[in-house]
Amino acid sequence: MTQELAEILAPYKGRRGSLIPILQAVQAKLGYLPEEAVVQIARFLGTPESEIYGVLTFYAQFRTSPVGRNLVTVCRGTACHVQGGARILAEVERRLGIKEAETSPDMEYSLETVACLGCCALAPTMVINTEVHGQMTTKKVAELFSKTKGEGQG
Ligand code: FES
Repeated sequence: MTQELAEILAPYKGRRGSLIPILQAVQAKLGYLPEEAVVQIARFLGTPESEIYGVLTFYAQFRTSPVGRNLVTVCRGTACHVQGGARILAEVERRLGIKEAETSPDMEYSLETVACLGCCALAPTMVINTEVHGQMTTKKVAELFSKTKGEGQG
């Protein structure tokens, strides 16, 4: 077991039902849950790897591949949907050349969707890293990505 992973897992020793908090802690540290980490967590808990992958698939918060330098999150919630959110997502996918839950080969962008970004009054909405963009249009998507693509955002 890597030292880093061992340190993350140590506080959970002997604690039953700690799979979700462990997965959250490892993802918080590593940014995602690589296969090696799943193997180590399975050994640590005495749980089959298949069970862990079942949890990873069920909860959208977990990722099994690394995140790009810029994380783009498009809202799929009802308020955004009725304001044309599907068109926004399609335009983002077209501009970035990736689909939801994918990362571009150059690791520049990852794209994900959420059920609500909590700012429905601004629908349709999306977030690039920590910056919220509201009342989105396909034109605004084009402007955002011609400005940010290749530059990276903090
Ligand atoms: S539904 Fe999109 S921000 Fe709430």
